[in-house]
Amino acid sequence: MQALYFMNTSKRKFSVIGCGRVGICLATFLFKNNYEPAGFFSKSRTSAQAARAAAGCGAVFDTVAGCARAGDIVFITTPDGIIESVCEDLVQQNALGPETMVFHLSGAHSSQILARAHQAGAGVGSIHPLQSFAPYEPGQTSPFEGINISVEGDPDAVSQGKDIAATLGARAFAIPTESKTLYHASAVVASNYLVTLVKFALTLLMETGLREDVAFDILSPLIQGTLSNIGARGCTRALTGPVARGDHETVSRHLADIDEKIPEFSALYRLLGTHTLDIAGAGDGLPEAAEQMLSLLFKQT
Ligand SMILES: NC(=O)c1ccc[n+]([C@@H]2O[C@H](COP(=O)([O-])OP(=O)(O)OC[C@H]3O[C@@H](n4cnc5c(N)ncnc54)[C@H](OP(=O)(O)O)[C@@H]3O)[C@@H](O)[C@H]2O)c1
Repeated sequence: MQALYFMNTSKRKFSVIGCGRVGICLATFLFKNNYEPAGFFSKSRTSAQAARAAAGCGAVFDTVAGCARAGDIVFITTPDGIIESVCEDLVQQNALGPETMVFHLSGAHSSQILARAHQAGAGVGSIHPLQSFAPYEPGQTSPFEGINISVEGDPDAVSQGKDIAATLGARAFAIPTESKTLYHASAVVASNYLVTLVKFALTLLMETGLREDVAFDILSPLIQGTLSNIGARGCTRALTGPVARGDHETVSRHLADIDEKIPEFSALYRLLGTHTLDIAGAGDGLPEAAEQMLSLLFKQT
């Protein structure tokens, strides 16, 4: 079936299924200009009522299908693992039609998990805010303001998703549906693995006898300065230090101490070193020193 959904300039009524951290904020901060909350449904009625109270408009529904039918746009903001089955329920109960646009807000999944809605004729897309949402507090500022939001899905869903992002005060960028997993992996590396990397640096400094908070205060300007250099000059030109200089004696001493005192980090230091070497090699390059560095990093302990 062909989706008949098209963007127009009249008010778009939307439904929220799953009234947790993201659902409540979405309903509250999207309620302006052309968007109006129409329906709320959650596993517990209390959560749906809380979302209705926060948004100040719309109705609380006892059935997921009733809620979906109230909106032209249906946001499924349940935990990721339930999105597909909620979508299936909506299709089974004929709650979606060619005039409906269904979005989920998961970063880990693409709009393909809404395939059943697509088959039923609805438009489908995903909108992922690159933000960490805390439980909603009355009077709080919008967590969407100024952030970046990825959008993918049907062409109409991408247009609608960009409009939703703009209405929320965020910047939208479209990604191909087939790239959603790599996009999400990128966000995980940038956020979660940065924590892992900082923890690694802190652990090394704490070996000198400093407490973790003191170690962080010491490293923080270096971390912030590096981020700012990457922004200003790009990764290759922002790179400094012994690997980029081809200073294998210094790297050799690092390895000896790490192998002896914190061997659980030896493999990580070596792996990061080889990738750092790749970045250095993309710049002015030191081919001979690079060869030596590579064999040093790969040397078995
Ligand atoms: N939290 C973040 O930082 C963040 C950031 C970006 C994207 N996201 C995405 O946003 C979506 C929602 O995440 P969240 O953090 O808002 O989760 P959450 O706080 O756990 O909220 C999920 C809500 O879904 C409801 N729910 C559970 N099962 C349901 C069902 N079968 N039918 C209807 N409602 C159901 C829960 O209901 P009750 O309260 O009624 O029990 C809960 O209120 C996820 O896809 C997540 O990946 C989250």
